[in-house]
Amino acid sequence: MEGQFARPHSAIAVLEQNISLEQKVQRRTRELEQSHQSLSQTLSELKLAQAHLLEANKLEAIGQLAAGVAHEINTPVQYVADNAGFLKEAFEKLMAALSETLRVARQIAATSPEVAPLRELDERLAAQGIAWVCEQIPRAIDQSIEGLERVTTIVSAMKDFSHPSAAEKQLTDLHDAIRTTITIARHEWKYVAEVETHFSPDVPHVPCLRNEFNQVILNLIVNAAHAIAERTSGGLNGKGTISVSTELRGEEVEIRIRDDGAGIPPAVATRIYDPFFTTKPVGKGTGQGLAIARSVVVDKHSGSIRFESELGRGTCFYVRLPIRARAPFTPAIT
Ligand SMILES: Nc1ncnc2c1ncn2[C@@H]1O[C@H](COP(=O)(O)OP(=O)(O)OP(=O)(O)O)[C@@H](O)[C@H]1O
Ligand SMILES: [Mg+2]
Repeated sequence: MEGQFARPHSAIAVLEQNISLEQKVQRRTRELEQSHQSLSQTLSELKLAQAHLLEANKLEAIGQLAAGVAHEINTPVQYVADNAGFLKEAFEKLMAALSETLRVARQIAATSPEVAPLRELDERLAAQGIAWVCEQIPRAIDQSIEGLERVTTIVSAMKDFSHPSAAEKQLTDLHDAIRTTITIARHEWKYVAEVETHFSPDVPHVPCLRNEFNQVILNLIVNAAHAIAERTSGGLNGKGTISVSTELRGEEVEIRIRDDGAGIPPAVATRIYDPFFTTKPVGKGTGQGLAIARSVVVDKHSGSIRFESELGRGTCFYVRLPIRARAPFTPAIT
C-alpha cells in the first residue's frame, strides 16, 4: 500500500526536483551571463588601459626625443638669428658709408672731370648691378629673419609640448596650450585647411593636466583635418576651415573645435568613442584618438565631450572643463 502511494508522491517530488533544478540552471545561466558581461567589460577596459599606456609610453618617448631635438635646434638657430640681426645692422651701416663715398666721388667727378678713375668706378658699379644687389640684400636678410622667427616659434612649441607631464593638475592657460598644439599639428592641416582661433578673453586659467589636454586638442584637430581632407580630396577641391573657439559657460570653459569636413555618418555616431573604432585605412588611424580624449576629459578632469555633425557639411566637438577641480570620476562598484 505504501508503495502505491509512494509513486505519485515521488513523481511530484521528481517534478519539483526538476523544476528547482531548472531554476538553479536558469539562475546559474544568469549569473554566468552576468559574469561574462562583466568579464567582457573588464577586458575592454583592460584593452583601453593597455592602449592608453602604450600611447602614453610612445608619447613620452617621442616627447623626450622631441625635447632633445628642439634643444639641439634651438642653439644653432639662436646664433644664426643673432648673426642675421648683426648682418642687417652692419649692412645698413655699410650702405650708408657706400652711398656717402659715392656721393663724394660723384661730386669730385662733377667738379674735376679730369679724374677719370672716379667716373670709371661709377660705370663699373652700374655694370655689375650693384644698385640692384644693394636693394635685394636687406630683403633677403629680412626674409631670413622671418624664417628664423618661424623656426623659433615651432621649436619653442615643441619644447613646450614635450615638457614632461606634471602628475598633478596645474592652473593652465588653455589658450596658450591650444596655440602650441595648433603649431605642433601644422603639418597635418596646412595643405587642407586654414586654422582660425576665437578665444574669449574672460576664460580663466583652469586646473588641468596640460600634456593630456594638449593631446585631446591634437586628436581633435587631426580628426578635423582628416575629415576636411576626405571632403576636399586632400585639398584638391580647395581648403577647408578649422575653427577653435573658447567661451566661459558658468562654472565651465567650453572649447569648440569646428570643421567643415565630411561629417560623421549617423550609423557610426554611437561608436566613435569606442576604443579601436576607426573608419580610416590601416596606417592612418588606430581608433584611439577619441577614446583617449573622452577618458582624459571625462575621467581625469570631470568634464564632458560631445559633438554635433552634419554629413557633408562638418562637425563640431564641444569639450567642457570645470574651472574648479572636481573629484575625479570613479565608476560605481556593484
Ligand atoms: N571631425 C570629424 N569628422 C568626421 N569624422 C570624425 C571626426 N572625428 C572623428 N571622426 C570619426 O570617428 C572615428 C574615430 O576617431 P578617432 O580619433 O577615435 O580614431 P581615428 O582618427 O580613426 O584614429 P586615431 O585617432 O587613433 O589615429 C574616425 O575614424 C572617424 O570616422
Ligand atoms: Mg583620430
